[in-house]
Amino acid sequence: MSTPAIPENPQTRAKIWQAFLDYFDAAEKKRRWNIRTDIPWDQCNSGIPPEIADVVQTFCMVELFLPDYLAKQLPQVRNSKGRAWMLANWGYEESKHSMVLNDWLLKAGHRTEEELQDMEQGVFEKEWGLRYDDPLASVVYTMVQEVATRVNYRNLRKAARGRCPALDRLLELVQIDEAAHGHFFRSLVQIYLEDDRAATLERIRLVFNTFAMPANDLLADGRRRVAAIKALNIFDEQVFYSEVVVPLLNTLGLTRADIRGRRVHPVK
Ligand SMILES: [Fe+2]
Ligand SMILES: [Fe+2]
Repeated sequence: MSTPAIPENPQTRAKIWQAFLDYFDAAEKKRRWNIRTDIPWDQCNSGIPPEIADVVQTFCMVELFLPDYLAKQLPQVRNSKGRAWMLANWGYEESKHSMVLNDWLLKAGHRTEEELQDMEQGVFEKEWGLRYDDPLASVVYTMVQEVATRVNYRNLRKAARGRCPALDRLLELVQIDEAAHGHFFRSLVQIYLEDDRAATLERIRLVFNTFAMPANDLLADGRRRVAAIKALNIFDEQVFYSEVVVPLLNTLGLTRADIRGRRVHPVK
């Protein structure tokens, strides 16, 4: 199968590899955690409201599409060592997220083994697809997705208000991972802005104007699940704008004007 080449010059490639090494070294030193030993599993609260447990299930389901996230994205970047190695490392970290959420649902008594098996089966009947057939747009999309995911976990943790120490700790650990992912992919977008500002701005404009969280389309009862997330003030359009778009624009040194206007470069 042929794979599209990534438009990277040698300097850009070297910067991306260095960004990955910085990310990897920091992760190995400060961020590795253990599902079995780093969560206070003896402090699970089965009395937590069912609507909170249901959002935990929604996030677990979205994380379960990991085989598709990796299988679809790796071919786009296999000739960029930094991006390919990052996806391998990212996949390991993401694999723990669905595992730890699954374990909490079971240990806190919110779901049975059978219910979790049905949940997995339902997820694997569907398939996540790339939103953009273009490696540059994909990295912008991943940046936005990771920052939005971090906000989702942080606000779920707030909604649970420390009522379950096990859930509180696991959401803290997952949220720290997601923040690190958002930071890494934002640093890649910064590198691409230096490499080709016009093309990268075009992708930022495209993604910001068409972004949707995967739960919308991926899950069989996605609409109901997205509405439940909104009802708990975890994530909605306003949160997306104020906690994802604005901070990203600020950090990238861009303004709202940069993401407005007609396309100047067609997306390949
Ligand atoms: Fe995750
Ligand atoms: Fe992530």
